[in-house]
Amino acid sequence: MSEKSSNVVWHKALVTREDRQRRNHHKSVVLWFTGLSASGKSTLAHAVEKRLHDDGCNTFVLDGDNVRHGLCSDLGFSLEDRAENLRRIGEVAKLMIEAGTIVLTAFISPLRQDRERVRSLFPHGDFLEIYCDASIEVCESRDPKGLYRRARAGEIPDFTGISSPYEAPINPELRCNTGEDPVEENVEQVLEMLRKRGIISG
Ligand code: ADX
Repeated sequence: MSEKSSNVVWHKALVTREDRQRRNHHKSVVLWFTGLSASGKSTLAHAVEKRLHDDGCNTFVLDGDNVRHGLCSDLGFSLEDRAENLRRIGEVAKLMIEAGTIVLTAFISPLRQDRERVRSLFPHGDFLEIYCDASIEVCESRDPKGLYRRARAGEIPDFTGISSPYEAPINPELRCNTGEDPVEENVEQVLEMLRKRGIISG
């Protein structure tokens, strides 16, 4: 903890996470989607959110491309800035979990140590890592924003998968083959995991 906040005392809420979960009829959790740019993280996160929302769940998607316009607009793509980006997201997700929300995050989060640092903010079982597994070839052929093309042309430095590393998860809670499977299949995989873990009811 930073020294600047050493004289601040935690104020206990009268309405607890458990109270909120009881009212919501589901548990709160962080679904941490990780993968290369254009691997399908946002698409899958939003598709899962839609299903959960339609079933009456409290949900929210934190998405790299959106968060970087506000909360993290001061950060770039050096490994140091990415670590700070993810630290902030982790803290926001922690607050949202207390608010009883199923939080879905879609960030490249390329380094294992950064993902593990975020994981360590949460009690066991509250942070579920979902690897959106799509090869660099597939991502590059999709290139929805033309960023891979620009990165190859040397116009974007530190581009993940081209000139900056991506470390695939070794033991994620779930691996989705977002490079090949239809998104609906991946959505079912995620929902099945949530049911099995008792986060949503069957
Ligand atoms: S992270 O590495 O810190 O987790 P984040 O998910 O927030 O990254 O942002 C990734 C998005 O920013 C990509 O989907 C892409 O649209 C855009 N972007 C811009 N520059 C880069 C870059 N150098 N590397 C990767 N993504 C980039």
